[in-house]
Amino acid sequence: MSQAASETQITRLSLPITTRRLLIREYTAEDIGAVFSYVKDPVYWQYQRSEAPTEEQIKTLIEWVVREQSASPRLLYFLAAARRDTGEVVGEAVLKILNPVDRQGELGFGVVPKFWKQGYGTEIGHAILDAAFGQFKLHRISGQCSPDNKSSIRVMQKLGMAREGLLRDVHFGRGKWWSSVVYGLLEAEHAKFRSVKKD
Ligand SMILES: CC(C)(COP(=O)(O)OP(=O)(O)OC[C@H]1O[C@@H](n2cnc3c(N)ncnc32)[C@H](O)[C@@H]1OP(=O)(O)O)[C@@H](O)C(=O)NCCC(=O)NCCS
Repeated sequence: MSQAASETQITRLSLPITTRRLLIREYTAEDIGAVFSYVKDPVYWQYQRSEAPTEEQIKTLIEWVVREQSASPRLLYFLAAARRDTGEVVGEAVLKILNPVDRQGELGFGVVPKFWKQGYGTEIGHAILDAAFGQFKLHRISGQCSPDNKSSIRVMQKLGMAREGLLRDVHFGRGKWWSSVVYGLLEAEHAKFRSVKKD
């Protein structure tokens, strides 16, 4: 296979993505208030090494995210996950294409605390992995979180991802060192996992 043929084809992700309960869509400036309302919750932010952002910083972030939507090639998808029935934002989905040549990507997700433990994190993760492997033909997708973040680790396990290692004291923030646990999934593993598990 030639090098060009093996690279990720940087087309655009087809959006929105519809799942059983969710519409995973582009952010708009109208989402700033909804994002700030869950990000400011200390329980949501407990495993993040940086200080929780202010409302002004969330506004700047979402405005930047909206500008990135027209980037070409587009390597970052920071998306809102909203309930299909009510439109309420239940969380966020992140896909970063880290390296198109080696077909490496990174997954991220977050769910508004009042919706935790209802399967939304897993539903978001499946949608992003399906799109990333299916549409971008990525070869490996990784995810990282604090080793104390048990629900995030559990979601990555439920997505079929394997623990690849622990980066010890890799970040310093909020007055302490943070380690990071790395999970990863290869395209063949994903195809096999999804052939037996649909939700
Ligand atoms: C991580 C997060 C997205 C999970 O969302 P969620 O909608 O609750 O996820 P799901 O309901 O799909 O699955 C959560 C799983 O974690 C398990 N879980 C929750 N808290 C747990 C704990 N303290 N210890 C062990 N497992 C736990 C749940 O029981 C469930 O597993 P199960 O289905 O086998 O019972 C959510 O907690 C979150 O947004 N956290 C803050 C942001 C964050 O940490 N993002 C990810 C890393 S950057």
